[in-house]
Amino acid sequence: MDSEVKLSVLFTAEQIAAAVKRLAAEIRRDYLDKNPVLIAVLKGSFVFLADLVRELNFPLNIEFAQLSSYGHGKESAGNIKVVKDIQGDIRGRHVLVVEDIIDTGLTADFFLKHLKQKQPASLKLCSLTDKPSRTQVEINIDYLGLTVPDKFIVGYGIDWDERFRYLPDICAIEDEA
Ligand code: IMP
Ligand code: MG
Repeated sequence: MDSEVKLSVLFTAEQIAAAVKRLAAEIRRDYLDKNPVLIAVLKGSFVFLADLVRELNFPLNIEFAQLSSYGHGKESAGNIKVVKDIQGDIRGRHVLVVEDIIDTGLTADFFLKHLKQKQPASLKLCSLTDKPSRTQVEINIDYLGLTVPDKFIVGYGIDWDERFRYLPDICAIEDEA
């Protein structure tokens, strides 16, 4: 049962909304006349993407990709694959990848290299959260929302084994009793 897992709130819905607004202002400034393609990495970024695009409120395209980096549990399986690639052609387009979290950086590094082969005009990364304590590959996050401590987080679309995506706040798992 979800109620048996001890969670602590790291960022409230209000704090997340403020971070999304700030990111949207930065992205709007840089992409307003560029008709960018936002590529959301499923599944964790779906809530963030939905809030972000409504704050952006200017012409853009949306694509979805799904990568497998984790098996079950909380550790990366290391072996990253494109489970679902984007459908549209991004050659010559301004592309912004929308991620929920950069943990080791392995997934984002892999995906940015994958997209680069498709020859976009520009390629940047926006992530709602970053966990710098876990970095294995240095990734330049062009638009970063929130920095999280070395804890496993859930909520606002982010899961632990498909659980807790529905939480409006971002919480840390403290105890799995
Ligand atoms: P990385 O390849 O280690 O950077 O991991 C990236 C992916 O792992 C993220 O997009 C998430 O799907 C997942 N992940 C990493 N840390 C967490 C966490 O604290 N909570 C939930 N998912 C996480
Ligand atoms: Mg993810």
